[in-house]
Amino acid sequence: MCGIVGFTGARETAPLLLEGLKRLEYRGYDSAGIAVMGDQVIQVEKVSGKVQKLSDKTDGGAAVPGCTGIGHTRWATHGAPTDLNAHPHLSNDGRFAVVHNGIIENFAELREELIAAGYTFQSETDTEVIVHLLESFDGGDLKTTVMRTVARLEGSYALGVLCSDKPDTLYAVKEASPLILGVGIGENYFASDVTALVSYTKNAIYLDDGDFAELTPAGITVFDSTGKKIEKPVSRITWTVEAAEKGGYDHFMLKEIMEQPAAVRAAIAPRVKDGEVHLDEFDLSPEELKQFNKIVITACGSAYYAGCAAKYALESLCRIPTEVVLASELRYGEPLIDSHTLLIVISQSGETADTIAAMKECRSRGAKALAIVNVVESTIAKLADWTLYTWAGPEIAVATTKGYTTQLAVLFLLAMSMGRKLGTLDDDRYPALLYDILRLPKLIQNAIDLNHGIPALAKKYHKSPSLFFIGRNTDWAVALEGALKMKEISYIHAESYAAGELKHGTIALIEEGTPVIAVCCNEHLVDKTISNIVEVKARGARVLAVALRGNHKIVSQANDVIFIPEINTLFSPILAVIPMQLLAYHVAKENGCDIDKPKNLAKSVTVE
Ligand code: AGP
Repeated sequence: MCGIVGFTGARETAPLLLEGLKRLEYRGYDSAGIAVMGDQVIQVEKVSGKVQKLSDKTDGGAAVPGCTGIGHTRWATHGAPTDLNAHPHLSNDGRFAVVHNGIIENFAELREELIAAGYTFQSETDTEVIVHLLESFDGGDLKTTVMRTVARLEGSYALGVLCSDKPDTLYAVKEASPLILGVGIGENYFASDVTALVSYTKNAIYLDDGDFAELTPAGITVFDSTGKKIEKPVSRITWTVEAAEKGGYDHFMLKEIMEQPAAVRAAIAPRVKDGEVHLDEFDLSPEELKQFNKIVITACGSAYYAGCAAKYALESLCRIPTEVVLASELRYGEPLIDSHTLLIVISQSGETADTIAAMKECRSRGAKALAIVNVVESTIAKLADWTLYTWAGPEIAVATTKGYTTQLAVLFLLAMSMGRKLGTLDDDRYPALLYDILRLPKLIQNAIDLNHGIPALAKKYHKSPSLFFIGRNTDWAVALEGALKMKEISYIHAESYAAGELKHGTIALIEEGTPVIAVCCNEHLVDKTISNIVEVKARGARVLAVALRGNHKIVSQANDVIFIPEINTLFSPILAVIPMQLLAYHVAKENGCDIDKPKNLAKSVTVE
């Protein structure tokens, strides 16, 4: 969702802000703007639409001269995506400019108060109250003005503040929304995530909630919420510029699909030593693990589906009852969770608002939280008792691919490690599982290679108004993810059903030519799913099956078959999802969709 950038130094800032905003485009947005400290006055330029439009309007930034500035991509919440509602917002006296990510929950009351005090509003946004508060509290000392303003705000906010009284100074404020400081030489920066910083610096300071910072070209000073100066470590950014670029691929999504063998290797290889799985970041003793009588997994979207797929491995290998609950449901439930519950929180971004809220709710009930997260130092990683990073590298496409498969890889390692320690994964089963987990990167590559026929299949299916994805058990979990991939990037209605449920209602929707994607990779249940294929075909469905290589029976039953390499059933979702990703990609491409930035969606959903 919204993206923030800020720069102060000796270089012209507008082109740098525009480049930073381009790198944040993937987060999802509908308008963009910049504010630059010019010759004594702040110049604001903003547009509804793309960063390119803003760049064209400002002649690549040349029309907005100055060396200190802030920029923003807005994903509309309060008010339509119009020029006026775009950020930055300017105070009535023109001395303050603000960009904001998050939601100000008490904005209505503040707005009334400010209108009564004579301030005029230009936009419908919640953000505009902040800039008028800054003007109203202005007493000459910018730090105090920022602190007094922030003290009135309720909700979530990452803020960038520019004030014409201190032309080379920026303020950055973080509360429940991501904001990272970049440390340069003779120049400093802030941004919503490191992808906007990697071109300029490899040194970052991660703020905690409540922290705020003053940035000048000469340095960065960080304060806690009481205004006390605090020392923060400077961390090295491991992501590279190349990793955040398309590198010759038409789309980030395709690049990220192709990166999966390497990403899964990075998630697994360092964690298997001498024939044993070692999770150094979650190194609990058998006694400590035995305290848990239940596992609750919470997440949103694909991360939730990764949880659905991993539940089978956790229950099979650890023999601990495992529940997978959508974070948006869990946060408002009355979950039966206590100190004997191991909460597993899955999130690529580590910033998903519902997931954070569910995590806080469960921790308040005594649960210990293990986070499985990709983005280093993200909110979820910081809130957790333990964090296992997925090491997928930057994921730019809105539709997650390597984010999901690396989550699965880590979850499988977790199930194996816990199973070994608990004594529930015995020596009979362990060697085969170890062999398979180490082969996963290679098998994923094989699954990609086996799928060269998918562009042709996409041509057969791309005009369908609706697609059904079916499967049982682990295959159903993959079907859920397959349907989500299809929906989000191709805009085709796609639904997933447990194959055994079809005849309890959904089969009524099957008619002549209805496409059904049947996942048949669970070796124990494949015959059952074949029966369902026969049932839907009898009603006119056209069936595309995803099956393990060597399953010849399926060829005579389905209209089309995509094979994946053979693998034990528990780990099969990580291979079966590959054709789903590629099918969604090629169908979306056939339909001319904006694959990396699908409409209405944001990469990281930082508001409820
Ligand atoms: C996946 O393709 C989606 N874009 C979305 O469902 C995503 O998985 C979900 O929003 C959760 O995000 P997170 O992993 O960053 O928490």
